[in-house]
Amino acid sequence: MASKTLIESPAVPVAKDPDVLAAAARLNGEDMCSIADLSSAEVRAILKLGHEVKRNPREYRHALDARQMVLMFEKASLRTRLSFEAGINTMGGNAIFVDQTSSPLGERESIADIARNVERWVDVIVLRTYAHDTITEMAANSRVPVINALSDFEHPCQALADFMTLEERFGSAAGLNFTYVGDGNNVCHSLMLTGAQLGANVTVATPRGYSPEIEIVTLAREIAQANGCELRLLQDPQLAAEGADAIYTDVCVSMGFEHESTKREPIFRPFQVNEALMQKAAPHAVFMHCLPARRNAEVTDQVIDSPQSIVFDQAENRLHAQKALLLLLLGGLANGVSIQQQ
Ligand code: CP
Ligand code: NVA
Repeated sequence: MASKTLIESPAVPVAKDPDVLAAAARLNGEDMCSIADLSSAEVRAILKLGHEVKRNPREYRHALDARQMVLMFEKASLRTRLSFEAGINTMGGNAIFVDQTSSPLGERESIADIARNVERWVDVIVLRTYAHDTITEMAANSRVPVINALSDFEHPCQALADFMTLEERFGSAAGLNFTYVGDGNNVCHSLMLTGAQLGANVTVATPRGYSPEIEIVTLAREIAQANGCELRLLQDPQLAAEGADAIYTDVCVSMGFEHESTKREPIFRPFQVNEALMQKAAPHAVFMHCLPARRNAEVTDQVIDSPQSIVFDQAENRLHAQKALLLLLLGGLANGVSIQQQ
């Protein structure tokens, strides 16, 4: 297994926030395959830096000067690709996109050999894959950081942006009642872990047979317990929505599961987020979706287009949260930028 290259930082770091400083020291050169790769303090630090980067983007214009990022995607993307590319470009770096949709990683040569080549040219590898193992195997064999930009198991960058958006709305995620309705999928997994890391009470309502993986449930419950919050798994969307501060849904047919759409669609119909379901939530509740949405399937037009919907704020915050993540993994805070206290 290759050891990670630590990016040299100037002797005097100028970031002042102690949480961000600690995260910058620990995460420099690390991978981010899962939210579980991060401690609660590190998740909080990424979001704190995300808010800061959003407020003062010009401060970071040269933070990643000349750094090279490769994006290798086995699946389609709008938000993830563009927010990563815009993110590194606006910090002085460069993005190279490799479309792997018709040539899955590991088919032409081994994932380990891809890692041993790519690490010679670039500073960070951003992967969107089917198998989660493709990401962990690349990480195990690469000396530069590997970031999970969605696998069948997790979508950690999405969850970071989503909780950053909740912090903007509510000030803090701690104690928030966050409800996810729909498939217990990659997005659901990362939201459960991130919510638990940040002290949110997470309720997940899925049809029977579509609940989140037990491994993630167990891990999220352990984290929740340590942070004094709760994780509930239900099969009743009405009950799950009661009093919620946020209701989140995703497609019921994720990329790679298209062959199951005829079977899944009727099963998920009672889990649609519509005005009646939103009325069960708190009056101030927000509606969330990672997008792309299948309008009038998992969510109605009335809800996604309502003032309660914050879906485009979530999409915007992909940019800021990922810029924060790149700054920490690539040692970018050493280039003369200071973090202002919120
Ligand atoms: N939410 C999200 O990851 O969108 P894309 O699939 O368009 O990247
Ligand atoms: N669960 C969805 C998320 C897309 C951003 C999928 O994996 O297709």
